Amino acid sequence: MNGECPPSCPFLVPSIPALDLPVGQLHRLAPVASPGKTDSGEVDETKRNVIKLLAIAGVVGAAGGGLVGGTLQYAQPPLVGAKSYPTVQLIDVDGAPLTATKVNQEYNVTTSSLLLFYYPLTNEPNFFLNLAPATTGGPGATNVPGGVGPTGSIVAYSAICQHLGCPAPAISYYPPGTCSKTFGTKNFYIHCSCHGSTYDVTDKAHNLTGPAIYPLPQVTLLWKDPADGGDDSLWAIGETGPEPVNGHFTTLAGGYQVPTTVQLFKESPIILCQFPSV
Ligand code: FES
Repeated sequence: MNGECPPSCPFLVPSIPALDLPVGQLHRLAPVASPGKTDSGEVDETKRNVIKLLAIAGVVGAAGGGLVGGTLQYAQPPLVGAKSYPTVQLIDVDGAPLTATKVNQEYNVTTSSLLLFYYPLTNEPNFFLNLAPATTGGPGATNVPGGVGPTGSIVAYSAICQHLGCPAPAISYYPPGTCSKTFGTKNFYIHCSCHGSTYDVTDKAHNLTGPAIYPLPQVTLLWKDPADGGDDSLWAIGETGPEPVNGHFTTLAGGYQVPTTVQLFKESPIILCQFPSV
């Protein structure tokens, strides 16, 4: 047995004359025909082969347009994103539907764990904050712009810094007194440990310090108020801000849309009380 396949070998691929291209002919270019000169008689095999291939491609393309079209559609990455802001119910860390009553029992302005959820895309994390004062009193904020719940203290902001895009927990919520730095009387804020940007959680996440110059996009929350027949549940229904979430051409593009419910999760904050001089 010499390893060669006999003519009856089932693995031999039958010859296709149209594809039997001569090899080693690239140097055999015919001279350019010019007036007064006769053709040398050499065959331009390269040109002939190109014409052959184009002819074959034409036949294949005509006969298998679907195949070609199908192949081309995967030649470029699929566009991902959401057509519009989805309406998404928020689920608590424990898996139960989140209600404003529960939020006020479990979370307040002093909560040090980061509460995060993804919306509207699975690569866009957001802070979930209840700015209501602790039951023991002290600082806090109610009826803030965009705030929902019985005292208008529940808000949500993008957890991706608008400077160079550091995500949580590099950008974190700092409860009252975490750092000695205050802005007026405000001693709780969102602060980014990457380069020191600070955002006002009580006023649409406006910039308290740079280098970021844009506020964090704010998630529009909906509270189904029991006084209006609602079930006290909390929903994410949109997002606003002068700029999209950092790293996205629009907040709705550049990732996959979240499902109809999203669950909050906790992370440990990174605390670094370093503020740029302003
Ligand atoms: S990325 Fe947050 S301050 Fe630079």
